[in-house]
Amino acid sequence: MKISVLTLFPEMFDSLNHSILKRAIEAGFLEVKFYNIRDYSLDRHQKCDDYSFGGGEGMVMMPQPVYDALEAADPNHNAHRIYLSPKGRTFNQSIAKEVSKFSHIVLLCGHYEGLDQRIIDHYIDEEISIGDYVLTGGELAAQVVIDCVARLQEGVLGNDKSAHFESFENNRLEYPHYTRPRDFMGHSVPEVLVSGDHKAIQKWREQESKILTKKHRPDLLKD
Ligand code: ADE
Repeated sequence: MKISVLTLFPEMFDSLNHSILKRAIEAGFLEVKFYNIRDYSLDRHQKCDDYSFGGGEGMVMMPQPVYDALEAADPNHNAHRIYLSPKGRTFNQSIAKEVSKFSHIVLLCGHYEGLDQRIIDHYIDEEISIGDYVLTGGELAAQVVIDCVARLQEGVLGNDKSAHFESFENNRLEYPHYTRPRDFMGHSVPEVLVSGDHKAIQKWREQESKILTKKHRPDLLKD
């Protein structure tokens, strides 16, 4: 999968150079390319923002540098273009799965008060928000999308099964996990997990998953 990131702050993506994502990129499962929007500004001072028509506080990202960066990243509009914004539909595991199926996505990160609406209306395929809060820019949101989508690519997680039994599958939160030692500071592992009875273990995990979902995310049980 190819991911093109359009941003005013490419250095904010240094976190991609770690762990599973780093290996995914090195192994060729993922290609992430950065386009610094400022490089596409035709302004003498590489200005990328301007005052809002109609007045009001805050600056708006100008359409020209963003349009040219989009043209550079995706000249024939073959990619799925996403604008990260608090006004978008809220990202979740099911949207991550949808997005992970595209061979090329463009992630456009906004800054200031927002982006000229004409770019969104005419050159973007969808707006995605990562939650009901306002970040200073779309960069952290883009990293959330990259991380979620990358781990769904075949081959990225060592064991392909590990993406299948986890939270949000079947609208449930995942059951709790334990590892050695069996006793930690007087706290022991649930007996059933060391019983060797696989049927009982599966039943216990299903029960725990339901209890946890009911406690933390009752909204998931309504669908
Ligand atoms: N940019 C600012 N806030 C955001 C959010 N919640 N989700 C995505 N992009 C954003």
